[in-house]
Amino acid sequence: MELLKQRILRDGRALSERVLLVDSFLNHQVDPKLMRAVGGAFAERFRDAGITKVVTIEASGIAPAVMAAEALDVPMVIMKKSVSSILREGIIQTEVFSFTKNQTYLLTLKSDFLTGADSVLLIDDFLANGEAAFGAIRLIEKAGARVAAVGAVIAKAFQPGLSKLRAAGYPTVALAAVRRMGDGFIEFEEDEK
Ligand code: G4P
Repeated sequence: MELLKQRILRDGRALSERVLLVDSFLNHQVDPKLMRAVGGAFAERFRDAGITKVVTIEASGIAPAVMAAEALDVPMVIMKKSVSSILREGIIQTEVFSFTKNQTYLLTLKSDFLTGADSVLLIDDFLANGEAAFGAIRLIEKAGARVAAVGAVIAKAFQPGLSKLRAAGYPTVALAAVRRMGDGFIEFEEDEK
């Protein structure tokens, strides 16, 4: 997605060869117009995929996911990383290891919000090792729903998540796939057709 890639080049910063800072428009401050365009780009790709729900993981996945859900005219479901005291019944959980935080958390979903009739588009802001995505997939499938596709706003293609999801048979789209980055430069893979 050209608009997104231009924005990453303008406002993103490679903190190292592995970490991309995009907190001025995606992870901390959010650009709603860009998120609307991102949601539209996902919707365009998956318009004919029979999607009934968009699912994401809190927190930074919410903005792009809600825009994709609006564009596809379906509900959006947020998987939680911590459970409040009012969310006790009918929940399903799976352990996810976060490499960036070096800790494990319990990804949680209220099973009422996904059924065997659902075809899900899973959206997240970043795809790195794929631990979060595979955790979300485990919960979606545990709820009896089908993962129709996965969308990442930004994928770090030099980390294994993107290829692991595709190898596991999940159609996966990254709107901007970073091939390489470092001090003062960010390079992208060619856009998929
Ligand atoms: P994985 O799920 O793909 O295996 O990745 P990992 O554990 O390494 O990532 C955990 C968190 O770090 C996720 O957000 C992910 O989006 C984010 N992340 C990974 N690589 C980068 C990067 O290069 N740049 C930025 N900005 N974020 C990255 P999170 O901690 O769950 O945060 P949030 O969604 O609550 O904001």
